[in-house]
Amino acid sequence: MKALTIRKYGSPDFLEIQDIKKPAPVGDQVLIKVNAVSVDDWDWGLLHGSPFVPNRFMAGLSKPHIIMGADIAGVVEAVGRSASAYRPGDEVYGDLSGSGFGGFAEYVCVPEGAVRIKSPGMSFEQAAAIPHAGMLALQGVTAGGQSRPGRKILINGAGGGVGSTAVQLLKLQDAEVTGVDSAAKLDAMRLWGFDDVIDYEAEDFTRNGRHYDLIIDVKTDRSPADYERALNAGGVYATVGGQVSKLLTIALSGIRIKRSRDKKLRVIALQANRDLAYFNELFEAGSFKPVIDTEFEFTTNGVRKAFHHFGAAAHKGKIVVRI
Ligand SMILES: NC(=O)c1ccc[n+]([C@@H]2O[C@H](COP(=O)([O-])OP(=O)(O)OC[C@H]3O[C@@H](n4cnc5c(N)ncnc54)[C@H](OP(=O)(O)O)[C@@H]3O)[C@@H](O)[C@H]2O)c1
Repeated sequence: MKALTIRKYGSPDFLEIQDIKKPAPVGDQVLIKVNAVSVDDWDWGLLHGSPFVPNRFMAGLSKPHIIMGADIAGVVEAVGRSASAYRPGDEVYGDLSGSGFGGFAEYVCVPEGAVRIKSPGMSFEQAAAIPHAGMLALQGVTAGGQSRPGRKILINGAGGGVGSTAVQLLKLQDAEVTGVDSAAKLDAMRLWGFDDVIDYEAEDFTRNGRHYDLIIDVKTDRSPADYERALNAGGVYATVGGQVSKLLTIALSGIRIKRSRDKKLRVIALQANRDLAYFNELFEAGSFKPVIDTEFEFTTNGVRKAFHHFGAAAHKGKIVVRI
């Protein structure tokens, strides 16, 4: 089968599609014929072997020997002896980051618990765009507690997968949503449903005097005091990602602030695949549609282009590779 290999760490130019042995499912594994895979932050970290922990421990200390690809959609082709959840022909999708990755290939074997049934109306490309960003977005949205119409919410780093999903979930709750990202993405973000947008190079949302009931942050890079200042009384700051040192400070301050004041700081730990059935329901009801920036072909050139596009942060929503 064809699979994407990494010759050495450091650049999309070291990616190459090669022929390798097709895997066979054992135990509770299912063999999936992959139809689409999306690019996410995991892949970028694995391609660069950076940050060293955890990426080099997953991909190889000095030389990468991993097939990247967490978010996949495809068709079950065979199942292991003790697998009982799926049958050949079932259309599934899921986030494989907890089960060894492997989505940039024609076939992948994973424990059956790593995937969920895909809504029949969803294309494979749409399904591959959902698992990772969808779960982070949903966990960020629910971190704010009870929803109520008119709640003021800000998403920082809102132009990618998490932001384009979270805004759709929040508009279902009649929240008033502000998105922060670079200038080139703001028009697209308005089309997705953001009521207000901020260019982070022109304005610092933690110092403009405005306050929010919930802040969902994809790119934490400031101090806890900055975020606390931008919250209303009773507000919640929930980060899904950012600079590791800042995330640690947020986690530690979260405990202090929770004890002493009416504001909460939280670090979200991804619960992969947990609520994909909910995304199926929303999709079938016409209440949610994943935003796909570009679809690339599964050729060496196509995949290199996809990763260069991701690395330039030029994508609005998700980048998908059709296999
Ligand atoms: N919590 C967990 O367990 C867990 C697990 C895995 C991954 N993650 C994290 O989940 C996140 C994935 O989010 P995603 O898929 O939405 O990422 P994404 O598609 O890369 O989107 C991130 C957006 O943030 C923008 N941005 C960059 N620097 C910014 C800044 N300083 N201020 C505001 N916006 C900025 C980027 O655009 P520009 O570059 O053009 O500005 C981009 O549009 C990542 O942070 C990743 O580390 C979390």
